[in-house]
Amino acid sequence: MHRALSSRTLTRKLATWLRQHARLAALAIASMVQQADAQTPETPAPAPKPAVATPAATPAATPAATPSTAAPAATQNPLAVAALEILRDECVACHRPGKVKGGLKLGTEESLKKGGESGPVLKPGHGEESLLHEVLLKGGDPHMPPKKQLTPQQTDAIKAWINAGAPWDASVMDKPPKPQPVKLRKMPKTMESVLSLSFSPDGSQLAVARGGRIEIRDTKQERFPVIQSFEVQMEAVQSLVWTPDGTHLFAGGFRKVSFWRTKDGLAEGEWSAGLVGQVTALALSNAGDILWIADSLASRGGFLHKVGWQQRQLFKTWKAHDDSVYALALSADGRWLATAGADRLARRWDTATDALSATYEGHTNQVLGVAFDSLKPRLATTGADREIKVWDQESREQDAVLGDKKQVVSAICWSKDGSRLIGVTERGNGAVYSAIQKHTGEQRSDTSKIQKLDKVEAFLQSLSATADGALIAAGATDGRIFVWKAADGKLQPTE
Ligand code: HEC
Repeated sequence: MHRALSSRTLTRKLATWLRQHARLAALAIASMVQQADAQTPETPAPAPKPAVATPAATPAATPAATPSTAAPAATQNPLAVAALEILRDECVACHRPGKVKGGLKLGTEESLKKGGESGPVLKPGHGEESLLHEVLLKGGDPHMPPKKQLTPQQTDAIKAWINAGAPWDASVMDKPPKPQPVKLRKMPKTMESVLSLSFSPDGSQLAVARGGRIEIRDTKQERFPVIQSFEVQMEAVQSLVWTPDGTHLFAGGFRKVSFWRTKDGLAEGEWSAGLVGQVTALALSNAGDILWIADSLASRGGFLHKVGWQQRQLFKTWKAHDDSVYALALSADGRWLATAGADRLARRWDTATDALSATYEGHTNQVLGVAFDSLKPRLATTGADREIKVWDQESREQDAVLGDKKQVVSAICWSKDGSRLIGVTERGNGAVYSAIQKHTGEQRSDTSKIQKLDKVEAFLQSLSATADGALIAAGATDGRIFVWKAADGKLQPTE
């Protein structure tokens, strides 16, 4: 069945055709990037059960603790909230910076007003005549979302909002999308992969997450034997963090963070309220009372939840990146929290005000790791673009670029004492950088001292070092762990 094509549709089709042919090479690259996406640590999308806030995780009934899914505040325009939630949940994934389908971005007021390839998509006051509404209807050309029909209530909400002049409300876009119920899936073998591991603050123990289990190893004994092991009731633990006093361990997975008492492995509770994706990273304040949860929805957003875990209180939730957040780091003085984004950016947040204080732009692919130097105001990042960059925190300039540019350094960490920056790669290599100097001009080789770690045949993806940087541990996709002495790079036997 053919429909007469409107001239606008023709223009659009032509524009699309031209764009596609001019951009074949770009598309090939984009698809490679997508494949790289698919290999990121969060791919082993686990999945059982929709997240349900357990009583323990239900925030206290204070206004500050209201989860982001709560009803809009009285000052918000309900028409705007309803419509923008639809755009946020159904559209922005394909219409955002980095993925601008049809030349249209929908994440900000400015970009929405600008429209797409065929011009403006909004005619404020005239819902029926706006392309943004037309594309939602049955037979819309193009039809949006491409493989789905929105309900009449949803399309009416968009129409009513445009009729009302399409008022904007940035706070809606800043919140995580509503969690979708998830179907039960069989757990793939890759779930055994060590996605996270972490030395206790005093270095005497090493916590290793393997699938849904955590083992605690004794680092004072030969071969680092397992002295405790417990099930976390989680498909795959993605992230671990110890309290600075070593009394508690937190494990993050799909829409959940579990708290454990380390001396006896007693489960003390969990937090799931408001979480929508994979808890890809965790960080704790120096006092051990504030927990930052990186909640990642691939291609949709990386959200930060700031939680007072003892009182089960949510302080704030906000969108930190337009894609997953792969790593968090806290500065030695506790003033800054850094985030590594799959959107190629690293960011620095003020821990007191939660305000964004700096964005580090320069990686040409996902940022996989981030670490603070405790001696100088510097920050290191590692990217899927095969570079470790060391930034001056304030000027946001790159002081040094490390690595051989031939392999992806999948994880980095800076020892707490600032003496060593460590990186491990997807090809089983590792290096310890010390005395990192600001590079001058083209010269790169003299910018640091390098101690190579014994090579292993494994895809290394997680990393931790003791506070003095003397002992280094890495976890691999095949479930093995490796421990090295930093001084000579020698691999230590492990059981
Ligand atoms: C799975 C990805 C995807 C999702 C989700 C999606 N779009 Fe699109 N959108 C596209 C693609 C691809 C095009 C280009 C299609 C074409 O030109 O034929 C497009 C084009 C458009 C256009 C035309 C832009 C122009 O100027 O030509 C509008 C308007 C639009 N989308 C709105 C929406 C809205 C509203 C939603 C959510 C309800 C949405 N899209 C969800 C992929 C998507």
